[in-house]
Amino acid sequence: MIKPAQHIYQAVPYHAGKPISALARETGIAVKNIVKLASNENPLGMSTKAMNAYIDASAALSRYPDPDGYDLRAALSESLHLDQDHFILGSGSNEILDMAASTFLNSNSACVYSQYAFIVYAQATQRIGAKHVVVPALGLGHDLDSMIASCDADVRLLYVANPNNPTGTYISPNAVEKFLERVPKHVVVVLDEAYNEYLPIEMRFDSTVWVRKFPNLLVSRTFSKAYGMAGLRIGYGIAQPALINWMNRVRPAFNVTTAAQYAAIAALGDQDFLDKSFEVNRAGMRQLQTGLDRLQVKWHPSHANFLLAYFENASQVNASLQQIGIIVRPVAGYGLTSHLRISVGLEKENARLLGALEEILGR
Ligand SMILES: Cc1ncc(COP(=O)(O)O)c(C=O)c1O
Repeated sequence: MIKPAQHIYQAVPYHAGKPISALARETGIAVKNIVKLASNENPLGMSTKAMNAYIDASAALSRYPDPDGYDLRAALSESLHLDQDHFILGSGSNEILDMAASTFLNSNSACVYSQYAFIVYAQATQRIGAKHVVVPALGLGHDLDSMIASCDADVRLLYVANPNNPTGTYISPNAVEKFLERVPKHVVVVLDEAYNEYLPIEMRFDSTVWVRKFPNLLVSRTFSKAYGMAGLRIGYGIAQPALINWMNRVRPAFNVTTAAQYAAIAALGDQDFLDKSFEVNRAGMRQLQTGLDRLQVKWHPSHANFLLAYFENASQVNASLQQIGIIVRPVAGYGLTSHLRISVGLEKENARLLGALEEILGR
């Protein structure tokens, strides 16, 4: 009988938001009538410039991709004003998070992350068989002081999400900087900025300043969210070259496709699309918050492109929504059994969700 490695017995597969095609199969509802507000995707799709670059890439697909993503790293270098050797590409930022665990953890070491933090941190740790140090949340956010206090000699990696998924909580630049100054130098900090582009300018900080200052910092970013390219699987890490060099030792061969590399370069050059995505998200967030208030549904303030809403019977509300073709995200896996996470959609999608909730809740 085959057996997995010992630490895999406790591992759980990643449960993603239900795909539109799966709900269509299960309910018979036509794909075009299904609204998906479950995976924090960009409801505008992706930029036309990126789409055209993706189509251009089709002529190059008989060859393997550039294994080092030279042109995309050059574009990132130009856009973020750091040399190319500060960047590593991943199949989604998920792979960056995973590679950090493979590079810096083993079964004798430990990883620190917060209760309610993005679930991939637990999974990446589990896959290595390292110890988990889960620090109780402060409200729904990270307790940075306790996270530092948990960094004993075994701890080699620590994840911070800013903003965090699924809670939408945010840490100010001042607090991040103080934290980075105090974290023991033997601990690599992964600062996960998957939703960075959704922050208003006054709440953002140029994290490359921290990268220059802290040799133990890895910032992860993605093209899946505000850039609208979740299906292409492309993200990147930013750190000092020594840290990037260690990670390149575990990076799988040809981990980022040619199409993703081409499209990401074009996406970086389309600021108008990014601005529009930001605006649509702000307006949609206001629409959802006002609508939920009207229905007397409690929600938590969020700094990303989703929010957590409170329902006494969340799983039943979720099932009722699915029956009429609306997909949101249960978060019971995080211990948040009375919440659903709702991604911000287009105006008409948000309106359809709010209308459906009004009926289901009888308000
Ligand atoms: C906080 C956070 N980090 C990272 C990711 C990974 O996204 P991707 O692998 O698509 O870049 C997600 C996706 O939901 C996320 O919410």
